[in-house]
Amino acid sequence: MKYLVGAVAVIALLIVGYLIFIYSGIYNISAMIHHDKLTNWMMNTVRENSIKHNADEDIKMPDLTDTSLIRMGFVHFREMCVGCHGGPGIEQSEIAKGLYPNPPILSKVTKDWTPRQLFWITKNGLKMTGMPAFGITHTDDMIWAIVAFTKKLPTLTKEQYQNFDDETKGESDEAE
Ligand code: HEC
Repeated sequence: MKYLVGAVAVIALLIVGYLIFIYSGIYNISAMIHHDKLTNWMMNTVRENSIKHNADEDIKMPDLTDTSLIRMGFVHFREMCVGCHGGPGIEQSEIAKGLYPNPPILSKVTKDWTPRQLFWITKNGLKMTGMPAFGITHTDDMIWAIVAFTKKLPTLTKEQYQNFDDETKGESDEAE
């Protein structure tokens, strides 16, 4: 009985402490203050495992080496991704520099993900990070095109990226 009362008291104290923390405003939500190591580890681990758990590794996938698909993906990338994630020879925008977590340079990180995981991330977005869910505004076919381009991205030089840009001048996201 003594132990039970003790356990209930500890739980009640934790709940009260939790509520004080939530309502008092002592937690500084500023995006200029970075998380401590433990929170960072927790958030990154949850994010990584959630993507791996939720991405459907059996979903039908088009041929990602198809050049017309990659070209279509570039047009979307130029319109919707490069501002935040940068590209060969292209700096991240000022908006992206102020985001926390900071959008990673995609050419450096796409190798960490399978195409189906990239599809899932692009379609669903990532909660509380600034990474939008493109599945709300884009069809699966468009998202696969973006994945095809992002897989190609790490191999592209500044000049090759510029060539894509020149070849697709005037083409917009909407026209695809
Ligand atoms: C408004 C800014 C913004 C735009 C626009 C944006 N992203 Fe992101 N993206 C982010 C942020 C911020 C993260 C980092 C999330 C994190 O660290 O948890 C991210 C993460 C990602 C990741 C996971 C990378 C990794 O290894 O952590 C992928 C893949 C990605 N974005 C793809 C895209 C694609 C493709 C587009 C365009 C269709 C796009 N993003 C547009 C902000 C953006």
